[in-house]
Formats: sequence, C-alpha cells, structure tokens
Amino acid sequence: MYFDIKNEIEARKLPDLFKFSDGTDVNSDNVSKRRMEMLEILQKNVYGYVPDAPDKIDFYIEKTDDTRCCAGKAIYKEIRITFPINDSEFSFPVKIMMPKAVKKAPFAVIANFRGTLPDEYIPSEELIDRGIGFGVFCYTTDITSDDNDFFSGISGKIYKDGIRKSGSDCGKIAMWAYCASRVLDYAINCEDIDREKTAVAGHSRLGKSALLASACDERFKYVFSNNSGCAGAAVSRGKKGETVKNITDAFPYWFCKNYVSYAENEEKMPCDQHFLLAATAPRKVYVASAAEDFWADPLSEYISCIEAGQFWRLYGKDAFPYIDSIPKPGDIICGSNIGYHIRSGVHFLSRYDWNAFIDFFLKK
Ligand code: GCU
Repeated sequence: MYFDIKNEIEARKLPDLFKFSDGTDVNSDNVSKRRMEMLEILQKNVYGYVPDAPDKIDFYIEKTDDTRCCAGKAIYKEIRITFPINDSEFSFPVKIMMPKAVKKAPFAVIANFRGTLPDEYIPSEELIDRGIGFGVFCYTTDITSDDNDFFSGISGKIYKDGIRKSGSDCGKIAMWAYCASRVLDYAINCEDIDREKTAVAGHSRLGKSALLASACDERFKYVFSNNSGCAGAAVSRGKKGETVKNITDAFPYWFCKNYVSYAENEEKMPCDQHFLLAATAPRKVYVASAAEDFWADPLSEYISCIEAGQFWRLYGKDAFPYIDSIPKPGDIICGSNIGYHIRSGVHFLSRYDWNAFIDFFLKK
C-alpha cells in the first residue's frame, strides 16, 4: 500500500532544525552552535542537565580472567570506577570483555538491565567474534534505582537531600547517560581500544539514555538505540502508542520536572526527538525498531531518522537515504551516517538487532 511519508511528516509540524530559537538560519558555519542550542533545549525541557564530567576518575581492576571467557577468545575484567561528585564520591562496577584477536578493538558501552554476563540482551560471543570489545553495567543496582527514590545510588550524591528543586534538575535517564560516559573515560585510555570506533548502546529506556549520552559526549562516535520509542528516537508530535502524558505519568523521575508541562501539549515543546538524534551529528546514529512494538511506534522512530538526517548535510555529509513509504519488517536502511532497521517481532534486544548494528558499526 502506498503511503505518502512526506505528507505524514508535514502533518506532524515538527520544530525546524534549521532555525535557531530566535528565528535566524542555521548554516554550515554556525551548525555547532545550533547543536549546542539543541542540547540546551533538550536538557532544560526533557531530561534535565547532565552533570559535568568529574575532574578526576579512578579505575581499579578487581578481577581478570583470560582463560575461558568465550572459549578463551576474550579477556574478561571486572573494574570499579570511582570519581568525586558534590564533595562526595561515587563508585560503580563494570564488566569488560575484549577480543584477544584484535590489537585495537572497536568498543561499545552497554547500559543494560542487568550487570552480569552472559545476558539475553548481549550476544557476547558474536561481539567478540566480530572483534568488538564492550563494557556493561546494570542501570539500577550499579547506578540508581528505577523509581522515584532520589537518595538511591548516584542520585543521593547529586541531590544530597534526595529532593530535586528546580524544574530542570536532571532525572534518571540523564544519570544513566552520565555513567555511560564514565565507562568511556576508562575505555578511551586503554591501549587496546580504537578511539574512532566507540559506541554507546541501549534498549528501550536505556536506548533513550544511550541517545542522550552520545548527544552530550562527542567522544562516542556511534550510538545504537534499540526500540527506544517515546522520549527516545520517536518523535512525540503525532506519535501513536506511548505519549508524553503516558510516560510522565508512569515514569516522571526519568525526566526533569519541566517535561510534565508538555503532556497533552506536545505542540508547545521547543524541540522534538529528532533534535536528540541530530545532536549526535556529525557522528553516527543507528536506530532499530520492532514491527510489533506499537508502544514505541516504529513509524515515529523512522520519521525522526528522516528529519534528523537532513542535519548531517550542514556538515557536508549525506542525509538519511529514506524510502518514500513505510519500511516493512526485514528492511535495513543504512546511509553512511544514519542506519535504521525494522525487524519482525516484539519489544526486545535481539541478535538480529545487534548483527545489523554491528554491520553498520564496522563499515569502513
Ligand atoms: C515502558 C515505557 C517505555 C520504555 C519501556 C522499557 O514500556 O513505557 O517508554 O521504553 O518501558 O524500557 O522497556
């Protein structure tokens, strides 16, 4: 069935990436200023301000095993990352796996639902066989609980009394994103890592966090967001499934308090989620949808790629090579800067998703 995607996009009335808030035009000379403005708008209105990177950071190797991990093809390490924050200190564990066969390996920081390996969302051996190293942490037990408790973990360091005062104080997605950058602090200084092939990856709520992490931290050269939906890759205007109202009713603590004012009021938002994808430009973005993930809304994720994709032109790079219809399960649409696929099935981070992302990640 023919579907006019251009009409659909026009009907969404998305805010213009090519105009500054004061109405002046964005061009290739001032594009980095626009990127900073978009980051500011997103943090102020959606996620809250991500804390500054710490002045110092320590890494302590707690355990190493290079004998039997992935049939002996990988080196496994458990490290502890510690850094000062607000006159106090925060520390969390990360599990690392590096392929022995590669001198300088591409490296993915994976924010995950669990911190142990093996894990159903992480095909360790496939990653190792394709020469990719990775570091994983558990977003709740290692960082901060997935609830309204702002005393828990790093939240209690950021908010000493467990209370957020201003409307733009950061929520938990920003904290998970912040800690993904701390894992990169470790990786970036390792001899066996390729600094030009660094990625941050996550599924669903952690896909939202991964997108924010890469938008804020230019050391991530790639981001992989899987089924991230509302407040992730999917544009909110005209979105089906989960809306800003649904997500702020159920998970208000993921965001800054200002975001609530856009519930059933999306048209007033000074941004939409294509800003989040565009804020990673000129680096690379991969978005994965699942056909039966109606809550996330694959079409709104796809539209976001199309719209954000235009932004790469300002950097003299290719836009997203979209097709003028709704992608069907099995379609993989990869440009050199944005990749997208939709697979059959439900909300899940599958091997199919990883393999498609890895192809994009390893492309020369
Ligand atoms: C809920 C939530 C989504 C989120 C998902 C997940 O369904 O509404 O926004 O992406 O959980 O993290 O699995």
